[in-house]
Amino acid sequence: MALISKTVTDMDDKEAKARIEHLRREIERHNAAYYLHDAPLISDYDFDRLMLELRDLETQYQQFADLDSPTQKIGGAALPAFAPVRHARQLLSLENASSEADLAAFLSRLTKAGLAEPLFMVEPKMDGLTLSVSFERGRFSLAATRGDGVTGENVTANARVIKAIPARLSEAVPRLAVRGEAYMDKQAFVRLNERREEAGQPLFANPRNAAAGSLRQLDPSVTAGRKLAIFFYDIIDIEGEAPSSQSGLLERLAAWGLPVNPERRLCRGVKQIMDYIAEMEQKRHDLPYEIDGMVIKLDDIAARNMLGATGKFPRWAVAYKFPPEQRETIVQNIIIGVGRTGAMTPAAVLKPVFLAGSTISHATLHNEDNVRDKDIRIGDTVLIQKAGDVIPEVVRVLREKRTGAEKEFVMPLHCPECGSPGVRLPGEAVRRCLNIDCPARIYESIIHFASKHGMNIDGLGPGLVRRLLDEGLIDDITDLYHLEAAKITALPGFGEISTANLLRAVEQSKGRPLHNLLFALGIRHVGEQAAKILAASFADIDQLMAADAQTLTTIPDIGGVIAQSIVNFFAEQHNVRLIERLREAGVNLREEQKTLGEQPLAGLNFVISGALANLSRDEAKALIEENGGKVSSSVSRNTSYLLLGENPGSKLDKANALQVPVIELAQLLAMLKEEAGYA
Ligand code: IVH
Repeated sequence: MALISKTVTDMDDKEAKARIEHLRREIERHNAAYYLHDAPLISDYDFDRLMLELRDLETQYQQFADLDSPTQKIGGAALPAFAPVRHARQLLSLENASSEADLAAFLSRLTKAGLAEPLFMVEPKMDGLTLSVSFERGRFSLAATRGDGVTGENVTANARVIKAIPARLSEAVPRLAVRGEAYMDKQAFVRLNERREEAGQPLFANPRNAAAGSLRQLDPSVTAGRKLAIFFYDIIDIEGEAPSSQSGLLERLAAWGLPVNPERRLCRGVKQIMDYIAEMEQKRHDLPYEIDGMVIKLDDIAARNMLGATGKFPRWAVAYKFPPEQRETIVQNIIIGVGRTGAMTPAAVLKPVFLAGSTISHATLHNEDNVRDKDIRIGDTVLIQKAGDVIPEVVRVLREKRTGAEKEFVMPLHCPECGSPGVRLPGEAVRRCLNIDCPARIYESIIHFASKHGMNIDGLGPGLVRRLLDEGLIDDITDLYHLEAAKITALPGFGEISTANLLRAVEQSKGRPLHNLLFALGIRHVGEQAAKILAASFADIDQLMAADAQTLTTIPDIGGVIAQSIVNFFAEQHNVRLIERLREAGVNLREEQKTLGEQPLAGLNFVISGALANLSRDEAKALIEENGGKVSSSVSRNTSYLLLGENPGSKLDKANALQVPVIELAQLLAMLKEEAGYA
């Protein structure tokens, strides 16, 4: 069977229709073989190509769209990507302000442009993701993510099941495209994570990620179960009379039956705006959804059009971001977690509080010195915040709230899991359990082995690792490659399909390149970056195992500490046996070597800021690294480029201050093409 007959553009309508119908029949046949008879006739890869071709054709030839097409139905198979959609008008992003002075500067620019004391609409800045939703003659027709502002992803099938998006407007507007922010409210988010925790699935870090993850689902029935909501706030394209003010626009959207945020206020001058911002900063905790700031928009649309935009940002609006949220809570206990390297890390068990998008019940305390320096005691009232917006930490103790009943923390001198002595090596801040057979270390090392950047064994999360260990089905990582289907299916809650999925993921992991395996082994000091450098320097693990510390330090970026740690790791017979057992199981121990000619980004350092269109951060990082570039987490003078996404944050300010060139994804892709000679 010819999988792709012709490219999309060289077909006439008749040919396209015939091909679309043929593809629909074929996909239906394969769906039945896969889902009903459990006997696929073609590989997942070939199936995905059929689906992709059909989606492309349906985007190109919208006259043949059909709600009964397999692309619109629940239960379709995996798709590598969502089809691109070009927006009718560029979806701009917003410049950030974080102080009254920034806001005053924004207002004075408008005064200079000839607007005296203009009126502003001030709206909450929803912490969700932008959606563009189109209606044809009043009927819902298309939904797309923002993407890079010019082209987004077609998420129509998923948006169709979001109840907050009406299937039909109250008026048959000939053509309308509106912009809104899809979000998940705090309660729905907490429930979703509770369900995921019970099912042993990874948790979403915050409601925004949960909303984005729910929309980028290959199966709309998953989206339907996720309780997404949306507030609309802009018209992208309209055939018919356009509103003349933001207040009129919002009223018009509401009258059509589109959800609009009732929290908004018309303000004039810095004082009124700042007063409303202060009011909302207090109120945000009581709102059922997350907001991360306020958006200040010129109300008069004719004036907006006159002002226009600079690059990505309109001159007529600004986003005022709230400072990181802090919350007060109580340290109910201090416990010790034992990590994969044996590090005994104290953590505070907190009275649960909702903070910046998630319920926090634990905060890391890093090490015993930190607990002593901050004088954190059991029973203390503390202020917490999220470091880098993700990891909860204790900022300080509210000593004035002490009652005298607080208990000082004493660091245990033995591992709480296996009772071995906790050793504090010279120069280290942490105490470690040095027993390589410690059950806590084994548990953590298996989770790490299976993790996304390691062997990427999908579905093997902490919950399942715990069960496999408890049931005696595994004792270490190598046992994963000898799991028997019958024993897994016998576990409560496991069916044949989930067992087959797990075993398939284990099987697939055997083919991971050497750098993933090196990272997965959890050798101390060998992170992702070092693993990649090592794998690029040695053709296989045997050569690496044979190298001495001196040879290792001749490799750029491999210092003495990493080198010694590698030598120590392979000096342990236990680890050598582990590698042998992986080899016997058929795990790949080699890395495909790239030539320098294929490395157009060699010598360049990138920093990624904000969310990128159509590409996750991990994918962008992999793309840069595969092409020889490096990715760091903070901007410095050594940064060659800042790769800019949506909502970039403070890295952009730093890049501007250091005059680091700022590029978007399209420019990065162009760099790859130019170098490869097909620009
Ligand atoms: S107005 C030209 N209004 O914030 C119009 N944006 O950093 C620009 N956002 O990409 C957007 N709530 O995804 C606007 N009430 C609101 C918003 C809002 C959330 C998001 C939007 C945008 C980002 C800007």
